[in-house]
Amino acid sequence: MEKFNIAIDGPAGAGKSTIARLVAEALGFIYIDTGAMYRAVTWSILQKGLEPDQTAEMIQLANSMDIRLMPGPQGQLVFVDGAEVTGVIRTAEVTGNVSRVSSIAEIRSILVAKQKELAQSKGVVMDGRDIGSHVLPDAEVKIFLTASVRIRAERRFKEIQDVQQGITLERLEQEIAERDRMDEQREASPLVKAPDAVLMDTTQMTIPEVVESILELCKTQV
Ligand code: C5P
Repeated sequence: MEKFNIAIDGPAGAGKSTIARLVAEALGFIYIDTGAMYRAVTWSILQKGLEPDQTAEMIQLANSMDIRLMPGPQGQLVFVDGAEVTGVIRTAEVTGNVSRVSSIAEIRSILVAKQKELAQSKGVVMDGRDIGSHVLPDAEVKIFLTASVRIRAERRFKEIQDVQQGITLERLEQEIAERDRMDEQREASPLVKAPDAVLMDTTQMTIPEVVESILELCKTQV
């Protein structure tokens, strides 16, 4: 099969990264988690102690950062200026600030330029919020993955309850709903289903079922 690009978008906790990684593995493609890039910028901003109104400094920082994504044994590894940040970009603090940072249009432009470059030679599965609608509008296959907010919260809860002490399912559901709201309502390339993306509601589907339907779709659409 010739190489092509797959865009997978959807709200928080819809299973995009697990599914995108498995689809990439099955096809021998490269998986690119764009959420990790927004998280890496947010982590760096917090590390530097920048205040929410220091937008110019945030943009300058995003511009000067060297963000690299590399395949690891258990998923994608993330590096900032040579240091590994794979784990630290997933803390509650980063998660709580990432939608604010990713609403800054200039920061989006910097990261979108990197993302377009990574997909140039095709053969990538890229997941995020604006991939089919904005970053790779010509992607051969576009999927919009979703599931009810309750089920997304339940799935996330199972993943993090051991590491994030004191977190409750209700709080997680509220946080996810709030992040969706910010991502959908921002002005700069909001979370939206591209008109030509295939909608997959995974509320009642298992991970292998979703992966299988995407692989089938690739056969019919490419
Ligand atoms: O995918 P993940 O939940 O790790 O993404 C973290 C955040 O990064 C999202 O809530 C969103 O604010 C931002 N994001 C984005 N555009 C993308 C990918 C992620 O704005 N393409």
